[in-house]
Amino acid sequence: MEYPNTNLSDEIFNKLKELIYGISGIYFNEQKKYLLETRLSRRLSILNLSSFEDYYNFLRYSPKKNTEIKELLNSITTNETSFFRDLPQLNVFIDILKQVVSAPSINSSKKIRIWSAGCSTGEEPYTIAIMIKENFPFSNIKFNVIGSDISEKALDSAKKGIYNSYTLRNASEDIIKKYFNKIDDDAFDINGEIKNMTSFFNINLIDTKEVKNLNVFDIVLCRNVIIYFDDSSKKRVISNIYESLKMGGYLFLGHSESLHFVSTSFKLVGFGKTPLYRKE
Ligand SMILES: C[S@@+](CC[C@H](N)C(=O)[O-])C[C@H]1O[C@@H](n2cnc3c(N)ncnc32)[C@H](O)[C@@H]1O
Repeated sequence: MEYPNTNLSDEIFNKLKELIYGISGIYFNEQKKYLLETRLSRRLSILNLSSFEDYYNFLRYSPKKNTEIKELLNSITTNETSFFRDLPQLNVFIDILKQVVSAPSINSSKKIRIWSAGCSTGEEPYTIAIMIKENFPFSNIKFNVIGSDISEKALDSAKKGIYNSYTLRNASEDIIKKYFNKIDDDAFDINGEIKNMTSFFNINLIDTKEVKNLNVFDIVLCRNVIIYFDDSSKKRVISNIYESLKMGGYLFLGHSESLHFVSTSFKLVGFGKTPLYRKE
């Protein structure tokens, strides 16, 4: 596909940056100008627009702006993920889940809700569902795994549940055999049992109302998501997640992320090398 030969001026970059930030909390600093330019040039081409200024005006004033904002979000989000990403941390998650399962309060509800916030194409929530099946095979507790993302395109892939061998590179052959149906050499369909434990929602994490609609969770994983936000958006997102957790519930962040300078509401509870946070 031919892309229009256009440059993103500083003025339009700043306008686009502000627009994206206002919608999503995602912050493109000066160093990421090139990234934005590359990611959005395809949209210019598809819409037959000849400059980023025209694209900015389209996003602001076109009758089709709401549809295009969805496309914008699909284009600018970084959706990198994989099955069993950061396994040591996921093993800690299972240890924590065992504690939650054995808590006396579970006896009455018999229900545990886990949220993969910023789940991209679904590998994280499906990994969680698989690990639950492996570790609690005969449990009479109902485990619900909810995945959410701002990118509808990523969620469409998640709902399809068809994956290639690259994203499954950390999954053992046994796991692949047990939980996937092989479509061809490089396409594996996640099985119905795992799909039934998992549901997906289009949620913008900075939108307090949208997050509230999900109701409360026992454990939240929000891994490799807040790195794209500035401090102010991080505070908003973490506060929304805090409100979505039950008292005593746990939050897992990505290994390069922390709540330093973001929130003092959580208690940092060390679990080996994996920091995790508890709502107290
Ligand atoms: C790098 S992926 C992380 C996927 C998975 N959690 C993992 O660790 O493998 C980051 C995801 O966060 C999503 N995201 C970014 N800003 C968001 C927002 N404001 N609300 C919801 N999701 C957002 C992106 O669309 C992207 O799919």
